[in-house]
Amino acid sequence: MHEKSFMDAILHGVPPTNEQIAAYLHAFHHRNPGVTSTVMRALRTSDGRTSYEMVADRIAATEMAAVLDIGCGDGELLAAIRTRAPQAALSGVDLSEEELALAKARLAGSEADLRVASAFALPYADAAFGAVAAHLVFMLIPQVETALREVYRVLAPGGTFAFLLPRRPKQPTTLTELLATLSRKIAIRYPEFLPFAIGDRALFERFGIADLLGRAGFSALPTFDDFEVRAAVDGAWLWKAISGRYVLGSLDDELTAELHAIVIAAAANGAFDYRESLRLVSIVR
Ligand SMILES: C[S@@+](CC[C@H](N)C(=O)[O-])C[C@H]1O[C@@H](n2cnc3c(N)ncnc32)[C@H](O)[C@@H]1O
Repeated sequence: MHEKSFMDAILHGVPPTNEQIAAYLHAFHHRNPGVTSTVMRALRTSDGRTSYEMVADRIAATEMAAVLDIGCGDGELLAAIRTRAPQAALSGVDLSEEELALAKARLAGSEADLRVASAFALPYADAAFGAVAAHLVFMLIPQVETALREVYRVLAPGGTFAFLLPRRPKQPTTLTELLATLSRKIAIRYPEFLPFAIGDRALFERFGIADLLGRAGFSALPTFDDFEVRAAVDGAWLWKAISGRYVLGSLDDELTAELHAIVIAAAANGAFDYRESLRLVSIVR
């Protein structure tokens, strides 16, 4: 039901409301908990790390005593931070109870503080954390400036905020070309389709990111590490990843069957080059 009102809006060219977006994300993760890490932990950088390990390495290097993961999902990033900084107190918030249940199971025994809470209203005192992390979350948040101000508030002076965002690749990849084909297929049925209806597009540009962080209170400049993670995947894996994406995983059965056929054909050689272009942003408060 909540997925439907968001999907009705974007398929018919009506920008979804913030409430529709939040309800959609909640319903999607209720139906598919752990969906992001199932895909992302299979992909590797050229030096063999996952994107979670990239963020965790950056956080662990700050030697903080307490870290908060915003939109922690099933706890994959917190688990990677725990491996690198076993002394650190771990906290995580997410909108989804089902994601948090997986995180609690994964982090059992480490006394992590995991709570249902929104990035817009973090249930923590000012300057409570030496580091704040987020892995593929801030690009989903419609009022991103409010959420960034919350990060600034809970981060201690001198603390680091490290967050991972998707990035537009300089050249089209087999994945971006496939996604464009799928979007065109949807647009044949729904000519008003709005493919990018979640989050703030400014986060796709370095200048936009720096500007938003400045408006949230940060006076230092962010650093940017652009990288790729990739794997050669078969059709079944590719479909799992595509149908685990927002919007593409919420279409009606007929359109889903059409997309499925396109995806399986794209991986017919059994080794589709699945590459995600990512950007690790870090900034000191
Ligand atoms: C793409 S998933 C990433 C999950 C996890 N960080 C990972 O990478 O495996 C986005 C997560 O952010 C959560 N989320 C979305 N909007 C949020 C908000 N406003 N406050 C807190 N969590 C949010 C979702 O419930 C979901 O678990």
